[in-house]
Amino acid sequence: MSTQSSTKKQFTTPDFFAYKEAKKRIVMCTAYDYTQARLVEAAGADVLLVGDSLGMTTLGYDSTLPVTMDDMLRATASVTRGAPSSYVVADMPFMSYQSSQQEGMRNAAALIAQGGASALKVEGASLEALAFIEALVAAGIPVVGHLGLTPQSINALGTYRTQAKEVEEVIRLMMDAHGLMTAGVCAIVLECVPTEVAQELSDMHMLPIIGIGSGVHCDGEVQVFHDLLGLSDFKPRHAKRYIDGAGTLDKALKEYVQDVRNSKFPTKTQSSSIDQNIIDDAASIFVEHLIEKVEEMGGSAEFIQDDASLDLDPDFEAVPEDSSRFFNGGSRAHLN
Ligand code: KIV
Repeated sequence: MSTQSSTKKQFTTPDFFAYKEAKKRIVMCTAYDYTQARLVEAAGADVLLVGDSLGMTTLGYDSTLPVTMDDMLRATASVTRGAPSSYVVADMPFMSYQSSQQEGMRNAAALIAQGGASALKVEGASLEALAFIEALVAAGIPVVGHLGLTPQSINALGTYRTQAKEVEEVIRLMMDAHGLMTAGVCAIVLECVPTEVAQELSDMHMLPIIGIGSGVHCDGEVQVFHDLLGLSDFKPRHAKRYIDGAGTLDKALKEYVQDVRNSKFPTKTQSSSIDQNIIDDAASIFVEHLIEKVEEMGGSAEFIQDDASLDLDPDFEAVPEDSSRFFNGGSRAHLN
């Protein structure tokens, strides 16, 4: 019996802990489709995240809340096809497990089995989230937690701002991180908390803390593809633009538009050609066929020119009504 082997992953779940122990920083980057995934894998990132930030970056929403399981599933499957040797984490979107754990498990199974994700990310550390994470881990599904600024709770938080600036908030964060560790997560994404808070959390735990907007002392970093490459209008403070992607693409696309308008594109390089004799033969056979058909219907073949071309005269109707079917399903030609 032959066994089917999937492509070997460069990074595995135990590597989250191994990297932390070896003080090797974990590099994570979002990707939302096949092409982006190919680019991120080729760049050598350890982990790809199909974040529900795709709601903003790709679908044009103003928050992650409208993102559906179908959106996540399609994106995850295209990312895993584009980055077959990468460890891919997929977000559980808003309300994909809160209404019932059974539905949550079904949705999680789809992202793993159909989407090809290696792990899932769950936001927050509410009682429902912790119970759900425990069930996933028990089913053999690795989970990455997400604390600090949790965009799925934007309506409760009020604004996208730095979290855990007061003692009570820091204590809450420490308790939540402890809860996630006990529930069995393999890493925590920590979004938008002060550098010192992130450092303290990283020092407290064996768990890798993967920061975004949380300073340099985390055990790794995650950033949004569009922010790094300057593809969105919005530039969060925590992001560094490595290229003015939008500007570069804009210039290239404008050049394309001008080239087409000015007949500078396509050139011979982008075109194919055949011998002119083939065209001449095809045209005369076509015209002969046309004459036959028109004459069969009692029409006149006077419109045929010496050079076998048709001279179309909109004022002269030489073709009977019902011959219209020869001219592309009903658009009547008036032949001279
Ligand atoms: O959805 C996402 O892209 C995320 C990152 C910002 C961590 O959760």
